Amino acid sequence: MFVPQKQKHIMETPDMGKWELAGYEAALPVTEKSNPITREIDKADPVQIVHLLKECDAEIFQEEDDTLVNYKGRYTETRTSEPQLEVEIGQREGETSHRKVKRLYSASVLQTMMDVTKKVEAILKDPEHSLIILSGCGTSGRLAFLLATSFNKLLKGLHKNPSYAYIIAGGDKAILTSQEASEDNPHLGAEALKRVCAGKKKVLFIGISCGLSAPFIAGQLDFCLNNLDVFTPVLVGFNPVNMARNEIIEGWHLTFRQVAEKMEEVQETRRAFILNPAVGPEGISGSSRMKGGSATKIILESLLLAAHKATSNNKEVTAKNLLDWMKTYEKVHKITYSQGKMIAAMVKQAGTSLEKMGRIYYIGWQTLGVMGIIDASECVPTFGTDFSDVRGFINKGYKEMANREGDLTSRGPEFEISHEDFMMNVLPDVTENDTVVFIFTLDDDLLEIEKLANQVKNKTPNLHAISHVTTGQYVSANIKKTFASVMSMTWPIVFFEYEGFFLQKFQRELSTKWILNAISTGGHILKGKIYFNHMIDLKVSNSKLFRRAVAILQRFTSRSPIICQEALLKSIYETDDLSDEIRNVEISTHTTLAATKFKVVPTALVLLTRNCSVAEAMSRIQAKPVVRETIDRYLTAPGRKRTADQIEMQRDEENE
Ligand code: F6P
Repeated sequence: MFVPQKQKHIMETPDMGKWELAGYEAALPVTEKSNPITREIDKADPVQIVHLLKECDAEIFQEEDDTLVNYKGRYTETRTSEPQLEVEIGQREGETSHRKVKRLYSASVLQTMMDVTKKVEAILKDPEHSLIILSGCGTSGRLAFLLATSFNKLLKGLHKNPSYAYIIAGGDKAILTSQEASEDNPHLGAEALKRVCAGKKKVLFIGISCGLSAPFIAGQLDFCLNNLDVFTPVLVGFNPVNMARNEIIEGWHLTFRQVAEKMEEVQETRRAFILNPAVGPEGISGSSRMKGGSATKIILESLLLAAHKATSNNKEVTAKNLLDWMKTYEKVHKITYSQGKMIAAMVKQAGTSLEKMGRIYYIGWQTLGVMGIIDASECVPTFGTDFSDVRGFINKGYKEMANREGDLTSRGPEFEISHEDFMMNVLPDVTENDTVVFIFTLDDDLLEIEKLANQVKNKTPNLHAISHVTTGQYVSANIKKTFASVMSMTWPIVFFEYEGFFLQKFQRELSTKWILNAISTGGHILKGKIYFNHMIDLKVSNSKLFRRAVAILQRFTSRSPIICQEALLKSIYETDDLSDEIRNVEISTHTTLAATKFKVVPTALVLLTRNCSVAEAMSRIQAKPVVRETIDRYLTAPGRKRTADQIEMQRDEENE
C-alpha cells in the first residue's frame, strides 16, 4: 500500500532539482512543475490525500535555513544585504543561470512588501484622487474581487470612502463561471484598467498572475509602465522572473517575461514592484487556485492590513510587523489541518457523491459563502466538470457579494447563487447521493441555519457543517444534531483593534479555502480524475492550458513537444490528417474549438501510446467512465518512470 512520505515542515530552500523529474521538468516554471510530495496522490486514500495537501501547503511558509549549504546553490548578497541562495533554475541542458530564489519570509520579499505598504498608505490619505486596483484572471481575479470588497468594507466601518476597485478578466460573470479566453488578451486588460481608473491621479495597480503568465495582466502592467506618472504597478506571482512565460502573445509585441523584466528594471527606482516568492509547485500540477491563491491572500492581506493599521496609528510599518501578520497565517495552517481526520471524512463523502454522479453543494454565509463560490467555480476548468456538479450559494445572494455589476441571476442557472435560489431551484432535486456542506460562524443567524439545514436533511443524510468558533463559544446541541458532522474550527478571541477583526475574518476564509480545496480536489481524485498529480482531463480553453496539455502529453509519453502537439491537434480537430492550415493557425483558434470538446487530452494520450486512429482513441476513452483507469492501462510500467531509451527517443524526435 502507498504510504505518504513524511516531510519536514521547515525544509531547505528549494533545490529546484527536487521539484523536477529527471530531464523533463527543468524547463517548466515552479508553478507548473509536479510536486514530489503529491506525486502519488492519485492512489492515496482520503486521510493520505489530506495529509499530502497539508505538507504541500506547508511549503508556502518554508524558510531558508542552514541546511541549504548542502544543496547545489551558493550564497550571494541582495539589495537588502540579506544572504540569499542562488540556485540553478529553469535551465535547459547546457545552460546555466544563477538566480535568487525568494521565499515568503525572505528579507527581500518583506522589503518589497514594506515599499508597497508605503504606496498604499499614500493612496489611503487621498481617496478622492487615488485608487488601489487589484486585478487577476480566474481564481486570482476572484480573490482580487474578494480583497477589494473586503477592504472597502473595512474603510466603510471607519466612515471612509472606498479606495479599492477590482478587475477580473471576463467581467463579473467570471467570478462565478470560468472565462479563460479573456485571460489571453492583453488589450482587454489595458482597456478594463483604463475604464476603472478614469479620472484618478494616482493609482496603485496590483496585478496577480500566480504563474507570471496571464497576457491580460501583462497588458495592464505594460500600460502602467508606460504611464508611471499616474500608476505604480505591482506584480504578484510565484515564479522567479526568469521563469515568467516567454511565449509570443497573439496580437501583441511583448511576452510576459519581457514585461516582468521591465518591471524588474523599474523596481530599482521603486516605481514598480514584484512580489514573487517561490511557494513550491501545486499539489495538483499547475492548479494555481490552490497554493497560489492561498499565498496571494496571505501576502496581500498582510500588507494591506499593515498599511491600514499604520494609517490609523500614524506609525511606520516595520518588517517585523509584516512578518508577525504573516506568521499568524502559519497558525491558520496548523489549526485547519489539526482537523485532518474530519476533513478526510468530508473528502471521502465528496468522492462517494461524485462517483455516484451526485453533486456537492456549499451553503455559506457572508464571505465564507464567497469562498464556496470560488472553490466551486474553479472545478469546471480544473476537473472538466459541469457547473452543476459543485456549486456554491451565499446568504442574500448578490447583495452580500457586493460585486460591481450587481445581480447576474438573469444570465442563467449557473448565476443563481442565493440561499433562496438553492431552496427553490436546487433542493427539490437533491438526492441521497448528494453532499451538502454548510459554512458559517457562530455569529451568523443560527436559527436560520438550523431551519435551512432541517429542510436539506429531509433530502440527503450527507449534510455536514464547517463552523468557525471563537474560544469560549460552543456549537449548540441543536446544531450538532441537525448535521451528520460538524467540523468546528476554534479561533482565539481578538482583543486588539479594528484591523484585528478583519484579520480573523481573513483567516477563517483561508481556513475554509484549504478545507474546500481539499474536499473538491480530494473528491475528484477519488473519482479518478487525476493521474499521478496531474489533471489529465483538463479543458484546453486558453493558451496556457494548451501548453500545459502538451507538457502533460510529453511527461507521460516521453515524446517530443512537436509530436505531442500534433496528437493534441488531431484530438481537438478529430482528424488523422492534420492539414497545414490547421497547423498554422493561431493557438486561439485551437483553444476556441477545444473548449467545446471533451476528453481531448486523454484521447491524445491514447493516440500517442496506441498509435491508432483518432476514432479508435476516442472510442477507447469513451468506453470507460474513469479516465485514470484507461490511461493507466495504456501507460504501463515503463511510462511511469522515464528510461534512458525514452529520453533518447525524445532527443531523436527533437533533432528530426
Ligand atoms: O486558465 C485558467 C486558470 O489557470 C485558472 O485556473 C487560474 O485561477 C487562472 O488561470 C489564473 O492563473 P494565474 O494566476 O497564474 O494568471
